[in-house]
Amino acid sequence: EFKENTSIVVFGASGDLSKKKTFPALFGLFREGYLDPSCKIIGFARSKLSDKDLHEKIKPNLKTNNDEKGSEKIEQFLKMVSYISGPYDKDEGFDKLAKELDSYEKEQGVKNPHRLFYLALPPSTFVAVATQIKKKVYAEHGETRVVVEKPFGHDLESFRELQSELSPLFREDELFRIDHYLGKEMVKNLVFMRFGNTFLNAAWNKENIQMIQISFKEPFGTEGRGGYFDEIGIIRDVMQNHMLQVLTLLTMERPVTFDSEAVRDEKVKVLKAFAPIDHNDILIGQYGKSDDGSKPGYLDDDTVNPDSKCVTFAALGFKIQNERWDGVPIVMRAGKALNEGKVEIRIQFKAVPSGVFGEVAHNELVIRVQPDEAIYIKCNSKTPGLSTTSQVSELDLTYARRFKDFWIPEAYEALIKDVLSGDHSNFVRDDELDISWKLFTPLLKYLEGPDAPKPEKYAYGSRGPAELVDFLKSHDYVFEDSG
Ligand code: BG6
Repeated sequence: EFKENTSIVVFGASGDLSKKKTFPALFGLFREGYLDPSCKIIGFARSKLSDKDLHEKIKPNLKTNNDEKGSEKIEQFLKMVSYISGPYDKDEGFDKLAKELDSYEKEQGVKNPHRLFYLALPPSTFVAVATQIKKKVYAEHGETRVVVEKPFGHDLESFRELQSELSPLFREDELFRIDHYLGKEMVKNLVFMRFGNTFLNAAWNKENIQMIQISFKEPFGTEGRGGYFDEIGIIRDVMQNHMLQVLTLLTMERPVTFDSEAVRDEKVKVLKAFAPIDHNDILIGQYGKSDDGSKPGYLDDDTVNPDSKCVTFAALGFKIQNERWDGVPIVMRAGKALNEGKVEIRIQFKAVPSGVFGEVAHNELVIRVQPDEAIYIKCNSKTPGLSTTSQVSELDLTYARRFKDFWIPEAYEALIKDVLSGDHSNFVRDDELDISWKLFTPLLKYLEGPDAPKPEKYAYGSRGPAELVDFLKSHDYVFEDSG
């Protein structure tokens, strides 16, 4: 475990990701007592900044969470943070970094250094920085941990190329590939829910489950970042990674133990049972102006090619060809510029045989990942009183009510804590990525190739393309009155 006297170097320290996620998460861990004051944090980037400039940049995003000593803690934290500027592909900044790390470790009397390098960087700089880390600041007599952020390639080929450049530099157990969805409380809860509850575990199969739906909805469009998004699209942005991770945890078999390799082995196994994505079993969309005209359509962004077929909404049908899931329809859907922001898993169970009660609704287990974490089960019960009819009610575990005194960490806080503890369970292994790219690359090539279909239009702020309802119905989803 990395505890006292750990040095943490944040590359890309002046960028957006570090400002919004990495530094606030490090501070959150410090505030809650998970990061020792003896640790040293060094920001590294190309821009010429002083320590103070960096402090000013990161300070507005450090949250005190109503801690009465909050502002004092911010000052203590900032004292741990310094800055070095330098190019990513040359020795100069790295020599300076090596000197600072050495003198810090000497001063603290550290014999086996713990060095954590966090690459909050665009992919074009990954390999250069990784190479310099290995050359100049790798902890020969201690331990090195390297955290990298997506995108891990653009398709199977580029992922493999990146992997072939990184793997000679670091062992797999030194690498922590972040998929921040794996740090979300409700995503981490999936294995606990599934394998910790007899009634769910027993019903978790094709005999009882009618269909599975995972949805990701964002209420905003690309808002000026269209040029960047145009190369990526929603499938690459959130489906190949975040949503597939969630689906894998939902469908894998029980691991032999819950240590990280056993869990990741099971994830890989179920991914191998996924059928190729059928190009005819998809619904794709691109948003246009909002109905009232106040919000721009995707193509109104000047940085986007006016003929772009970039997919900002997709619903994809999946099939898992194994004993547990054979024949169960699975739909993954994600969209930008929709009517709300929500990430949710919906498991619809098969109908009970009709008879005594007449038609009753399908049971549904809903796991709301965000906002407002909740788990609820739609179940049937007698309408109270003298009635003899049944009605749908909910067994409800809304976190804000049930767990109001708990600190629920941000995804990045949870993940950096895992890196400090050396726990890989919530990070993506190379073989998982390989297989997920294998699954998605043919679809992406088709959608970006000469025969690509045109995405359906939907209005900014709507529920997505009108065809969605039929798409879900054709995957056996039954819309109950309340749904
Ligand atoms: C990122 C995507 O990985 O995830 C963004 O690049 C997306 O486009 C974001 O908005 C969603 O993360 P969260 O935690 O806000 O749901």
